[in-house]
Amino acid sequence: MNNLYIKAINRAKELLLENPFDVYHTLDHHAEVVCNIFDIKDAEVIELKNGLLEVAAWWHDVFKDNTRGEELLIKEFLDLGLNQEEIQEILNIISSHSFGQEQQNSEAKLLYDADKIALVSIPRWKYAFDRFDAGLISEAERDKYIPEWNRRMPILEDKLHYKYSKLLFKKRYAEFVDWLKSIGRYQNGLMV
Ligand SMILES: [Fe+2]
Repeated sequence: MNNLYIKAINRAKELLLENPFDVYHTLDHHAEVVCNIFDIKDAEVIELKNGLLEVAAWWHDVFKDNTRGEELLIKEFLDLGLNQEEIQEILNIISSHSFGQEQQNSEAKLLYDADKIALVSIPRWKYAFDRFDAGLISEAERDKYIPEWNRRMPILEDKLHYKYSKLLFKKRYAEFVDWLKSIGRYQNGLMV
């Protein structure tokens, strides 16, 4: 990977450490998504054109839900010295990763699948629950994605692009449900 991309990744890590969007969209979430991307890419033998997917993955939730998110990303990337074409490619990958959107190329599909699999990440949810138990976040912040989780779970597997993504999701989902049961937060097929 070229030095500029490494610099871009380090800058994202810095922002994520300083000021993550919330307890679910931390540096660890981004690291997990990058890991998932490489797992899926290797299992499916997908060739990436360049290192921009990895850059996009490290930035994908840095400015989550910010109305000026795209503008802020462009400014960061220009400051880092990326060119217009590279910036556009990163923005395209990031902008199509949300649930319910169409993913046009392998890069966008990989980010989408990797990010959705992270919905059943035990460490991710455990971190939020632990932060609440330690009195560091409110109950509302801890629980804010539970309704969305319950809505997405029955339809998620069908919306993943790759066979390996579906396998990985099913395995992690089963483990996740066992964990929810063990902490008394699973009832009638729903997270509670
Ligand atoms: Fe994400």
